[in-house]
Amino acid sequence: MDKITVIGAGNVGATVANVIAQKDLVKEVYLVDIKEGVAEGKALDIWQTAPILGYNTRMRGVTNDYAQTAGSGIVVVTSGLPRKPGMSRDDLISTNAGIVKTVVEQAKKYSPDTIFIIVSNPLDVMTYAAFKAAGLDSSKVFGMAGILDTARYKSFLACELKVHPNDIQAMLLGGHGDTMVPLPRHTTVSGIPVTELVSKEKLDAIIQRTKVGGGELVKLMGTSAWYAPGAAAAQMCEAIVRDQNRIFPVCTLLNGQYGEHGVYLGVPVKLGKNGIQEIVEIDLHPEEMALLKESSIAVKDVMKVLDDMNLF
Ligand code: NAI
Ligand code: 2OP
Repeated sequence: MDKITVIGAGNVGATVANVIAQKDLVKEVYLVDIKEGVAEGKALDIWQTAPILGYNTRMRGVTNDYAQTAGSGIVVVTSGLPRKPGMSRDDLISTNAGIVKTVVEQAKKYSPDTIFIIVSNPLDVMTYAAFKAAGLDSSKVFGMAGILDTARYKSFLACELKVHPNDIQAMLLGGHGDTMVPLPRHTTVSGIPVTELVSKEKLDAIIQRTKVGGGELVKLMGTSAWYAPGAAAAQMCEAIVRDQNRIFPVCTLLNGQYGEHGVYLGVPVKLGKNGIQEIVEIDLHPEEMALLKESSIAVKDVMKVLDDMNLF
């Protein structure tokens, strides 16, 4: 794969492009924005880090010119409004659904076989909107949230346990909202169950902080996060470009897996050159299954709002 496009050159989009470039994954990255000059300027600024950081990925910025993005192997969609303090991710739907639909249709016109990674919020429902707009197999249209949410969980655990973050393995299920489901039973520190290393009270507090981790940052900064979200989307691109078959929590369309039908939710998948190579089903305890169901109901409520907008 030679080319990746990132739509939206705001905080998250520019960070995705920057991290992809530093990984030297492809020959070219195209940044696209609707605001005149913004993508061009950020692309130029990022490219000027190449001689310092030592990579060779060419960064190009365009204003709404999708013809230039033709032949992209991956399109990352970050365009749309971020949250402000007091807003939930779901409050963004009326603006972001139209934006996601338009940009996916435009990008697909010039890259008909591309893989779409959706980042715009409300994530699970925007990924569903992108799936409808793209008309591609769901293995090629999926969303980024679980890598970010598990990264937050792992970062809190690394501080609590005073260990290297690389030594923490964790899985998390469900939608990208306060009903997400971190799985302590599937959290280990170099193979040691985390429950043997930290008290239940501390672990519960870390899980709760993870669930509202996006909101914590919105309160601090007045807008939502971008460094970790950008790095997370870039890690998904890397797994695809390098055909790594990494197992990550990814927002994907479920058709019977985990007892769910026709809903985009976060579950473990194997990510490689074809996008989602496989949805990994793990046996859940009844209480974990109940939490996943609760998360799915929350996502379906927002899907209903999208359906009522009659965009598709
Ligand atoms: P931002 O406001 O910094 O950037 C958004 C960019 O999209 C702006 O530059 C804007 O001009 C552009 N844009 C708007 N309409 C467009 C269109 N039709 N075509 C092309 N570009 C368009 O926002 P930020 O912080 O980058 O967040 C972007 C989205 O990502 C938000 O919806 C946010 O909630 C979401 N997000 C999702 C995360 C996740 O885990 N899935 C994590 C962090 C943010
Ligand atoms: C986050 O979790 C806003 O969804 C974004 O930071």
